[in-house]
Amino acid sequence: MELLQGTTIFWLGHSTVLVQTPKGTNILIDPFIAQNPKYPRGFQLPEKIHYILLTHGHGDHMSDAVPVAAKHHATVVAVYELAAYMEARGVAKAIGMNLGGTVQLDDVAATMVEAKHSAGAQDEEGTHYVGVAAGFVLSIMNGPVLYHAGDTAVFGDMKLIAGLYHPQVAMLPIGGHFTMGPKEAALAASFLEPQVILPLHFGTFPPLKGTPEELVKLVGPSIHVAKLAPGDSL
Ligand code: NI
Ligand code: MN
Repeated sequence: MELLQGTTIFWLGHSTVLVQTPKGTNILIDPFIAQNPKYPRGFQLPEKIHYILLTHGHGDHMSDAVPVAAKHHATVVAVYELAAYMEARGVAKAIGMNLGGTVQLDDVAATMVEAKHSAGAQDEEGTHYVGVAAGFVLSIMNGPVLYHAGDTAVFGDMKLIAGLYHPQVAMLPIGGHFTMGPKEAALAASFLEPQVILPLHFGTFPPLKGTPEELVKLVGPSIHVAKLAPGDSL
């Protein structure tokens, strides 16, 4: 896709996305693999994953962060408390940050932005406070600006994300029930004004009923809604 200027975005089902920059930086967002019914079995992750970005502490966004970080020698980037929780679970390298801040990850400036969602982490010891839910804006050197919204409702301050960073690609949850559905995602698109939407967080489980087809009807022809199968790339 021309607007991506050599960056590749693989959708791996649910909210799991692999971004490969022209310089060769591999960023995995919200790894949900073993328990993800839509993960493309047989998909080969790159040997080296430089960074794993976590939007929040729910299992369907971070349940494979610890094993993938260990196997692929990745640094985990998350909101401060979630980064500390990851370190306590055995992640060797973590960067804690917070809303509004930017960290430079090689050729990618990663900005943590707001999301409207809950964010506890559940394990065998109960539910833990691991900071707030977030999204990420990835500003890729000599490349596009990408926005991964994580899990969220639509909110008016998406206009601030558009005004500050101008993402060309918006990865938005559309399944409903736990996040916005197509109706709300269409309003989000009007705030964000991306050229491309990659729908996330739909169809994985029965309650996530929103579909890309509904979103296409609502946003009209000015925005391209990418209809990928898990494992496919932009
Ligand atoms: Ni969630
Ligand atoms: Mn989720």
